Amino acid sequence: KFIQEEELSEECRELISSLPTEKCLLFGNLYQYQGFWVSSGNYLQKIVTCQNQFEARDSDIFLVTLPKSGTTWLKAMVFALVNRTQYDPKSTQHPLLSNNPHQLVHFLEFPIPRNGVDSSTPRLISTHLPLVSLPESVKKSGCKIVYLCRNPKDNFVSRFHWQNKLRRQEMGGISLEEAFESFCRGVYTYGPFWDHALGYWKQSLETPERVLFFKYDEMKADPGNHLRKLADFIGCPISKEEESFNLVDQILELCSFDHLSNLEVNRTGKLLPGINNSNFFRRGEVGDWKNHLTPEMAQKLDEITKEKLGASGLTF
Ligand code: A3P
Repeated sequence: KFIQEEELSEECRELISSLPTEKCLLFGNLYQYQGFWVSSGNYLQKIVTCQNQFEARDSDIFLVTLPKSGTTWLKAMVFALVNRTQYDPKSTQHPLLSNNPHQLVHFLEFPIPRNGVDSSTPRLISTHLPLVSLPESVKKSGCKIVYLCRNPKDNFVSRFHWQNKLRRQEMGGISLEEAFESFCRGVYTYGPFWDHALGYWKQSLETPERVLFFKYDEMKADPGNHLRKLADFIGCPISKEEESFNLVDQILELCSFDHLSNLEVNRTGKLLPGINNSNFFRRGEVGDWKNHLTPEMAQKLDEITKEKLGASGLTF
């Protein structure tokens, strides 16, 4: 816990008492804030503090995801890309070899101890916040936002496994059925999925120079060209010379699931008490939902997705 419940500000207590509440499957309560669910008063206070105090810079690069959409991979790739002059991707001293990507690119709304590597300028900042909840300074600044989305069926399955890993010791497992029901209702941290994705999707259509919208599934299919697009978008394009010595492949290899997940730091390290670095690596594949969802569940999620995304142009 970063802030104990008793340390919540008066403003936050008042806010909480005005918000719709549901039980969280993981632990504690969820509060519906600005249309999305937030787990616990602690997080809510963190979010409100960020909204009030965070000062964005035009040079900032925001990496935005729903949990379990490939945040860890995106962080690794952007860190390697932005810092490639300082840290050669082939170096045996590269920070990604001894740090989990979450220790190198921090979340706006919750603190994770740094291991002494400064991400310097441009600042790389990640968040799970929906567009509507970003601090005003982020919306007003010229900073870049990369949004990574994942097909909702795999996102759900990945989330289900994650929840059970975090819960298992204390409370026994969550059933697939109850997790599925919450997902369909959108009642889980940072849900609903569709509204979160749609907010950034629409913004990416309105201001493509500010918001780049990627899908995990497409990035898996063609990681090289996604990395090039990322580099162009954040203002550090891959040069001809870099292409000639296969920089793209070097970064992809450094950040690949197999490479990162087998590093000592990611096999045995801990990000926070109760959160092992290995929890962020499971299968890293597209379509694992087929091994978990019944045909009825898959059909139901497809129907909700179709209905919610409507004519927005966003499809999965
Ligand atoms: P699965 O549970 O389907 O395996 P997040 O980083 O947002 O928490 O998302 C975690 C998901 O991304 C997990 O999906 C995890 O295995 C996958 N992942 C982690 N590192 C990855 C990498 N380097 N490449 C591809 N997928 C990765």
